[in-house]
Amino acid sequence: MAKIREIREEDLNEVYEIERLSFREPYPKTLLLIYSKICRETFLVVENCSGKIKGYIIGLIKWNILGHIISLAIHPEHRRKGYAKMLIRELLRRFKVNGVKVVRLEVRVSNKPAINLYSKMGFKIAYTLKNFYLDGEDAYVMYKVLD
Ligand SMILES: CC(C)(COP(=O)(O)OP(=O)(O)OC[C@H]1O[C@@H](n2cnc3c(N)ncnc32)[C@H](O)[C@@H]1OP(=O)(O)O)[C@@H](O)C(=O)NCCC(=O)NCCS
Repeated sequence: MAKIREIREEDLNEVYEIERLSFREPYPKTLLLIYSKICRETFLVVENCSGKIKGYIIGLIKWNILGHIISLAIHPEHRRKGYAKMLIRELLRRFKVNGVKVVRLEVRVSNKPAINLYSKMGFKIAYTLKNFYLDGEDAYVMYKVLD
């Protein structure tokens, strides 16, 4: 049975490994550490029954009403098992409890798996940010209103 919980400092190496395996431009470990401190209730990991971390999501609340999904990744060997959906559901629940009204995120325009996932979770594409990533790729900004 998979379980979702808040990140702890000792999880950072495992989370960083998933980040490194998942992104062309991974966040440095120091930045993940900072997010783990400032997003205490909204930096979540999913672990299996033996405590192995399979994925994580980072959410940041801005101006009390805007939720920002900063990052989401599942270990390549554990994709298509519903972990990302589980993490998003729990993050949206926590955002709502904290008064968030709208959630936004950026996603590479080529990242079909993530665009499918977010669309399935009720996110809509709002607009395109040109040259958003260091390699020049554009991003879609997607948003969801929490009801
Ligand atoms: C995108 C990502 C987080 C999805 O994680 P996951 O745990 O495999 O996703 P889930 O199993 O919860 O899938 C939920 C839905 O997402 C969509 N989806 C996920 N992977 C997909 C793929 N490879 N191709 C097409 N659709 C996909 C499907 O609609 C899927 O529903 P289904 O399995 O019923 O068809 C994962 O592929 C990943 O870590 N990618 C690299 C990092 C990344 O791109 N993060 C997002 C940055 S914005």
